[in-house]
Amino acid sequence: SGKNVDTLQVASPSSNVVPELADIDWDNLGFEFMSTDYMYMMKCSQGENFSKGELQRFGNIQLSPSAGILNYGQGLFEGLKAYRKYDGNILLFRPEENALRLRMGAERMCMPSPTVEQFVEAVKETVLANERWIPPLGKGSLYIRPLLMGSGAVLGLAPAPEYTFLIYVSPVGNYFKEGLAPIHLIVETEMHRATPGGTGGVKTIGNYAGVLKAQSAAKAKGFSDVLYLDSVHKRYLEEVSSCNVFVVKDNVIATPSIKGTILPGITRKSIIDVAVSQGYQVEERFVAVDELLDADEVFCTGTAVVISPVGSITYLGKRVSYGRDGVGLVSQQIYSALTSLQMGLTEDNMDWIVAL
Ligand code: COI
Repeated sequence: SGKNVDTLQVASPSSNVVPELADIDWDNLGFEFMSTDYMYMMKCSQGENFSKGELQRFGNIQLSPSAGILNYGQGLFEGLKAYRKYDGNILLFRPEENALRLRMGAERMCMPSPTVEQFVEAVKETVLANERWIPPLGKGSLYIRPLLMGSGAVLGLAPAPEYTFLIYVSPVGNYFKEGLAPIHLIVETEMHRATPGGTGGVKTIGNYAGVLKAQSAAKAKGFSDVLYLDSVHKRYLEEVSSCNVFVVKDNVIATPSIKGTILPGITRKSIIDVAVSQGYQVEERFVAVDELLDADEVFCTGTAVVISPVGSITYLGKRVSYGRDGVGLVSQQIYSALTSLQMGLTEDNMDWIVAL
């Protein structure tokens, strides 16, 4: 409506001109890609540091067919969200944690990475440039997807000679089609997500394509997603394709400990702190698949998923149900505590929120 998005007019944090919302159906957001106005790009050569990036119009990028990411999967991604607060402020949730995780992953994947400051600054710039795509309060959030990739050409297996750090965003609602209703999982007994010494503990792109086959098979049978077991004992819970898992029994909340094969989720870590502050005992340890049998509640956590209650888990043909198809009390309580913090509805005693 008259607003010229073709020139790079990015609102500064202090400006009080709120751009008009994008003209889309805000009431039916799922978790599907929608292109927005701008993306952030920053490049550097191998052995150098990232120095200066810039916003550009969102669009396709150019890559050599021989790019490291395309041929050998030298790439990482991150995920975080921006929420619109009731007073108009834009809130990020623990963006430094994503920056630190990307740096850890980059070390594992032999890539240079932006500093924490560069990362957070780039996220802020990208969100502000796409402000009209941040959903109104209660309608969802702006999902922020940073990528770090070997963009230079390689033929023999080696780290790429050039790297690209890119951020794009997309407005999102609920991740699972179930919305906030419980999801139904099946324990995968043949395929594994990660192996000790591998890359399960970093957010490398390759971890995700490898779960598609089990996930598709599960969906074809009517399940929402797959719950993976460890590849050594085939007995301990690892995670779901796109999120971490928590098991509740009485006043104790258990989740698989971070031991190299589990993705160190920022939502996972935050929920542990939130649950402890609410008086729960939280255990990070090996969680055996048999414990699902007498658990009171199970829930999944992730940036995309937030908190998703689990209504049933099927293991070796046997189905265990939780919460009589409603949301369990503990899951509900922790969901409320976390999301009201993220949306700026409760005081942030943890210093987790970054307001733009
Ligand atoms: C996230 O939760 O942000 C993720 O990166 C998981 C992805 C599969 C959507």
